[in-house]
Amino acid sequence: MENFKLNNGTTIPAEGIGTFLLSPDDAENAVYSAFTNGYTMVDTANAYMNEKAVGRGLKKAGVKREDVYISTKLWPSIYGDAAKAIDDTLKRLGTDYIDLLFLHQPVGEIKAAYRTMEDAVKAGKVRSLGLSNFPMDELKDIVDNEEIKPSVIQVEAHPYFPQTELKKYIASFGGRIMAWYPLGHGDRSLVNEPVFTELAKKYHKSNAQIILRWHVQSCNIVIPGSKNPAHIKDNIDIYDFTLTDEDMKAIATVNKNVRYYTATKEALNGYLHMAPDFDSQK
Ligand SMILES: NC(=O)c1ccc[n+]([C@@H]2O[C@H](COP(=O)([O-])OP(=O)(O)OC[C@H]3O[C@@H](n4cnc5c(N)ncnc54)[C@H](OP(=O)(O)O)[C@@H]3O)[C@@H](O)[C@H]2O)c1
Repeated sequence: MENFKLNNGTTIPAEGIGTFLLSPDDAENAVYSAFTNGYTMVDTANAYMNEKAVGRGLKKAGVKREDVYISTKLWPSIYGDAAKAIDDTLKRLGTDYIDLLFLHQPVGEIKAAYRTMEDAVKAGKVRSLGLSNFPMDELKDIVDNEEIKPSVIQVEAHPYFPQTELKKYIASFGGRIMAWYPLGHGDRSLVNEPVFTELAKKYHKSNAQIILRWHVQSCNIVIPGSKNPAHIKDNIDIYDFTLTDEDMKAIATVNKNVRYYTATKEALNGYLHMAPDFDSQK
């Protein structure tokens, strides 16, 4: 496992297990599987409705809190009472601090919630701040005007959409990308691109492992999602080889500059009004 340094002096693992769309039971099992196979980071969110399960998986794996990096996200419908939302999140996860806390979507009472997250950093409840799915202008507004710069920007990123422009801007304030959909959400046409098949043969790895290695060598923090223990194990087995500059250039040719998902204004407003009872999760 490799680590990256963040702009606030803390360290973050290069890779973690993603838990989007995992049911509580699947999330608990995936986290248990990951942390008993060398993972040190998990990414979840209020909206995934599996934070309690993540906490259970970590407990079951028997890992010490200081050896675990927890990344989670506040949902827009609770930005208005972010102090309570943070305390509730801590309770669901069964911890007294969050390593990395994101605003999940760029809608609603963003500034108020961000300032409350800054207070939570000062109170020791949160270590690092992140923004997820923020377009460049809204990101810039926070970076230029708020006290604590975000350390991690979580956005869709993979070889079809490597986020070249955004990464340049993020580097200017020492931030780092955390890539969601790192494997294209499992899209076979991405995973089976001939370049990955060729490199998989060359390094005796799977296509998915080549893609994940590309992410880490591109300085992306990567959080592949999986509920398959064999995939979970393989996805972290990427630190015993290095792609050459030529390999990296060959992978760059599959860039289509196309995302899988774009949030419309209507979708973002829908998020604001989506207010599940987060505590009702299993
Ligand atoms: N901030 C946001 O708005 C946002 C949005 C989406 C996702 N995320 C985060 O990013 C994480 C990653 O995204 P994701 O899980 O949606 O997509 P992903 O990691 O790109 O792909 C997950 C899919 O790939 C398959 N897979 C995983 N490892 C594999 C392997 N070694 N070989 C073949 N297939 C493999 C999984 O199936 P199996 O279960 O069968 O392995 C699953 O169907 C999420 O879990 C979540 O934490 C954040």
